[in-house]
Amino acid sequence: MIKIKQFTIIKPDDWHVHFRNGKILKTIVKYTSNFYERAMVMPNLSSPIITIKSAKKYKKNILNALKKNSTFTPLMTCYLTIDTDPDDIEYAFYEKIFFAAKLYPKNSTSYSKFGIKKIKTITNVLERMQKIGMPLLVHGEIVDKNMDIFDREKFFIDKILIKLRKDFPELKIVLEHISTKEAVDYIQSVKKNLGATITPHHLMYNRNDMLSNGIRPHLYCLPILKSKTHQEALRKAISSGNKKFFLGTDSAPHYYYNKESHCGSAGIFNSLSSLSIYAEIFEKMHALNHFESFCSRNGALFYSLPENKNTITFIRKSWKIPDKIFVGEKIIIPFLAGKMVKWTIE
Ligand code: DOR
Ligand code: ZN
Ligand code: ZN
Repeated sequence: MIKIKQFTIIKPDDWHVHFRNGKILKTIVKYTSNFYERAMVMPNLSSPIITIKSAKKYKKNILNALKKNSTFTPLMTCYLTIDTDPDDIEYAFYEKIFFAAKLYPKNSTSYSKFGIKKIKTITNVLERMQKIGMPLLVHGEIVDKNMDIFDREKFFIDKILIKLRKDFPELKIVLEHISTKEAVDYIQSVKKNLGATITPHHLMYNRNDMLSNGIRPHLYCLPILKSKTHQEALRKAISSGNKKFFLGTDSAPHYYYNKESHCGSAGIFNSLSSLSIYAEIFEKMHALNHFESFCSRNGALFYSLPENKNTITFIRKSWKIPDKIFVGEKIIIPFLAGKMVKWTIE
């Protein structure tokens, strides 16, 4: 079979990214802004983005970290707490300060201690979001010490999401970084107002890769990698061309000493290689015909945004992912550090 040597697509958007703040932000924003035209910026900083004031300041910090002629647009999200005020939400949405709001079940992931314990405590906010057409993004896991970590996503769907959709049928919801066959099936079964992002790491690896030949802390993320069956369901989902699935890297840097630790942090920093990896997986699945939609159309369609005007070109030329990224003296180990990937992006 003849292998395609290069192809061009509409410049993609990353619908789920963590930029952090301070020095990390300044170092890493370029790895997203070089390849993506827009990004949905997650609000779970150590001081989370819960106010209009903090969102404005955070956006400014992001814009200041960009190159002068960059066209990159960060879309800001609001971290929902029990104190979130529906009037603030409405004002910030209409003023285009917040594009969406993020639901973190309390203690479900990194920096989620201000998250929500009981959905009914934010009913008035969800009602308002539904009314004004503001999207709700969810970290879809229930955390309970009696529940197996590998079942957290499935339980979120069964116990929270199904009811949430019944109570707020017009609310646009994105189930972020899906990791299970149950999530794929559920998304496919729903007619409207529900989409899902899929990460490079959940497509590339399963829990055997993380645990069966030594423990790999740099593959530790939440939702945790699942079994091969689930990985294959995700691969099938993107290969089907279903428009409800779109690109979200969940790129989430942590310093290496917080990853290689007795209690390691969850999160994988993948922004610099993300597009090359997605392309590799689509090619492997013989689904490159659906690649542009996944990267550059489906998300915009879901969020009722225009498609980007710029394009990027993929060239079949391998390159080596750096072993480490320096943030001053400190080190972040990128996803697939030191490995070769097949596609170079121009
Ligand atoms: O692995 C993860 N890391 N999953 C998340 O949901 C959050 C992220 C982070 O912020 O580090
Ligand atoms: Zn998450
Ligand atoms: Zn995330």
